[in-house]
Amino acid sequence: MTNYKRRDFLKNGAALAALSGASAAGVLLPATLAQAQSAAGKIRVGLMLPYTGTFAQLGVAIENGFRLALAEHGGKFGGRELEFFKVDDESDPAKATENANKLIQRDKVEVLVGTVHSGVEMGILKVVRESGTLHIIPNAGADAATGGLCAPNVFRTSFTNWQPSYPLGDLLIKRGHKSAVYLTWKYGAGEESLGGFRDGYSKAGGKILKEMFLPFPNVEFQALLTEIAALKPDAVVCFFAGGGAAKFLRDYAAAGLKGKIPLYGSGFLTDGILEAVGDAAEGIETTLHYGDGIDTKRNNAFRLAYAKTFKLQPDVYAVQGYDAGLLLTAGLDAMKGDIANKAGMIKAMENVKIDSPRGPWTMSKAHNPIQDIYLRKVVGKENKVMGVAHKALADPARGCKMA
Ligand code: BEZ
Repeated sequence: MTNYKRRDFLKNGAALAALSGASAAGVLLPATLAQAQSAAGKIRVGLMLPYTGTFAQLGVAIENGFRLALAEHGGKFGGRELEFFKVDDESDPAKATENANKLIQRDKVEVLVGTVHSGVEMGILKVVRESGTLHIIPNAGADAATGGLCAPNVFRTSFTNWQPSYPLGDLLIKRGHKSAVYLTWKYGAGEESLGGFRDGYSKAGGKILKEMFLPFPNVEFQALLTEIAALKPDAVVCFFAGGGAAKFLRDYAAAGLKGKIPLYGSGFLTDGILEAVGDAAEGIETTLHYGDGIDTKRNNAFRLAYAKTFKLQPDVYAVQGYDAGLLLTAGLDAMKGDIANKAGMIKAMENVKIDSPRGPWTMSKAHNPIQDIYLRKVVGKENKVMGVAHKALADPARGCKMA
């Protein structure tokens, strides 16, 4: 895959703009009806998220977070109201390009916010790199989105899959765990999370005894847990999220492994599911760019507002959706609502410092957050923050040639 440089983006944007009559790269074009309507009316926002399946709760939390940011800005970003167009992507990569095209071609969205699943994200990337549509990723960690397939119009407010897993390696060695088994779903996010862990763990001197996989979103863990018991590693490390993570924690405890072989993971393992799993998660340590217990004025205010509005506790996914709203309004405020000025939007979004509930973060050159990764521990129904596992961690952005 060739690298997608800024000058290519501007060239493609101009060509697309000439075809569609819209100013895809902020270049000067004759005013068209579409432009006039767009400038005056609501901004068309596509939400492509999972609303069914194992990641359904994650999609809802992201949308809630985004809507909370909007409400806190008086219902307007850059002085303009938003009109939402929604697609349930079902976390199904096979439907990803069709779903993204529905939003872009049929609904004519001006910014596409999505998604959760890394495989689905790869399909969205294909479409938005072609169309030049402004794109904000509020979860999917697919390394390529801000790596080999980075593009000027693609921004992320979450993480790369590598990022939260990398600091786990050092943590395990500090805990005296010299050997580990890694277990995950066989798809992009699982494999890349394993990659981050492998980088950190081998650098710290650890040995991975075995890498184990099951197809996404399969939750038949029993055979693998039996094999882990026989292998007797010092620790088990995993990437699971959503409903699958809750089932894994219950099965790990039921298999008698909890308390015998310490379990670790990137924090998706215990985020947003503590109400559902009860004691099975107690004491588990994870690393992530958010923790319920971050005791700052900013996080406490966010948590209170979210709980009041949605009658739910927020989690990392809600924060990422909220920050997607903050990022979009940073661009729109700078452009006074002129989303068609894409070059201006991009510049403003590149220069943000997001005052997030997770703590302030900035945008890397590849358009991914440079952020603190926290060490968390489950205490009761909370992912309690125990410290910072890695300060201001930037993804290596391998293969991104964007200037
Ligand atoms: C992913 O597929 O990128 C992903 C899904 C859920 C949580 C974290 C990452």
